[in-house]
This record gives sequence, structure tokens and C-alpha cells, in this order.
Amino acid sequence: MKFFVDTAEIADIKALAETGLLDGVTTNPSLIAKSGRKILDVIAEICAIVPGPVSAEVAATEYDAIMREAAVLREIAHNVTIKVPLTPDGLRACRTLANEGVMVNVTLCFSAAQALLAAKAGAAFISPFVGRLDDIGQDGMELISDIVTIYNNYPNFRTEVLVASIRHPIHVVQAAKLGAHVATLPPNVLRMLYNHPLTDKGLAAFLADWSKTGQTIA
Ligand code: E4P
Repeated sequence: MKFFVDTAEIADIKALAETGLLDGVTTNPSLIAKSGRKILDVIAEICAIVPGPVSAEVAATEYDAIMREAAVLREIAHNVTIKVPLTPDGLRACRTLANEGVMVNVTLCFSAAQALLAAKAGAAFISPFVGRLDDIGQDGMELISDIVTIYNNYPNFRTEVLVASIRHPIHVVQAAKLGAHVATLPPNVLRMLYNHPLTDKGLAAFLADWSKTGQTIA
């Protein structure tokens, strides 16, 4: 499973890139707004840090305008992935961009039928939002299961399931058990994956015993 980080904060991205566990980055208009920076500058900086796919989302909703914005965003770096909304115009743009060899991330997916359309439109990634479905009392992970099943039924689909709107480590584990290709995690959730109290307790005990030996290794 690939790990992307869902943020536009450069300090977080740099720190997580150093772990060697980061395969890509996703951003959205809200995350760019939160960063307080200009989208072109932020995306360029992220692309220089992370060699994997970096999703930059269009703000336009109409086909011609989406294509104009995509033209600007794809000029930033070779690893920019154009993120488009799951709308008729977004999927039309997805098809055009995919035909031109551009990676497209189709976002705001909340149903298996929508995911089917995105695959047919040639998306490199489909982003189903599990947390936002959970928030309204629906089972976000059931959607991941449905999409993985459907995509597996059609080996000619190349679209990767990119689990988005992740809220906690259990989402990540469940998505991995279902065989989702990618999880995009907020930085705090990615850091949470390391944690287990027995790891801390065990390490403290090992270090205490080791100090009694008076030895050093290097
Ligand atoms: C995905 O690409 C989105 O940027 C993101 O995962 C949305 O998450 P949220 O529901 O926490 O805003």
C-alpha cells in the first residue's frame, strides 16, 4: 500500500519524506487556503521534495476552464497529478487529460457508481472520502470494499483506489485489508501509525536492562 500525505504544509511534508515512507502528496483547495500560500508556489515546493505523485486540484468546474487550469498546473513539474471533481465536466477533463498521458486524481467520490465512471474516464486515482461518509452515518469502508471488488472484476481498469478523508489508523488498516492501493493520510494520522504502548514499554525495559550491562555497541 502506498502512503500519501494529505497536506500543503511544507514542514510536515519534509519531515515525513525523511522517514522514507512517503509515496506522494495530496492537496485540495481547503488545504491550500489553510497554508495561506499561493498554489503554484506550494505545489512546486512539494514536487521538489517528493518525487511521487503530487495532487493539485483545479478550482474551475466547467470543462474549458478546468482544462486551462490543468494546463497551468501540469507545467509545474512532471509529477503533478491533476485533481478534478467527480462531475460530468470533471470526468470529461479526466478523459482528455488521460488521453494526453496526464495522471488524474478524481476527487469527491462518495459512491461505487461514481468510481466506475472515474475508471472508465481513465483516472489514475479515484479518491473515495471515507471519513465524510462515516460522519453522516454511512459506512465509508463499505464503499472501499465495493470499489476494490468492482475494479478487480475488470483487470483493464488501471485506476488506483486512493482512500481519502482518513481520520484514524483503523481506517488505514481496514483499507489495507481490503487491498486499496493508496491511503492519503493527514500528517498526525501518519505519525499515529507508529504508536503502541507496548512498544514504548518494551523499549524502556530493554534500555534499562542494557544500561546495567555497561556495554556500548558503537
Ligand atoms: C483527499 O484528497 C482530500 O484532500 C482529503 O482526504 C479530504 O479529507 P477531509 O474529509 O478530512 O477534509
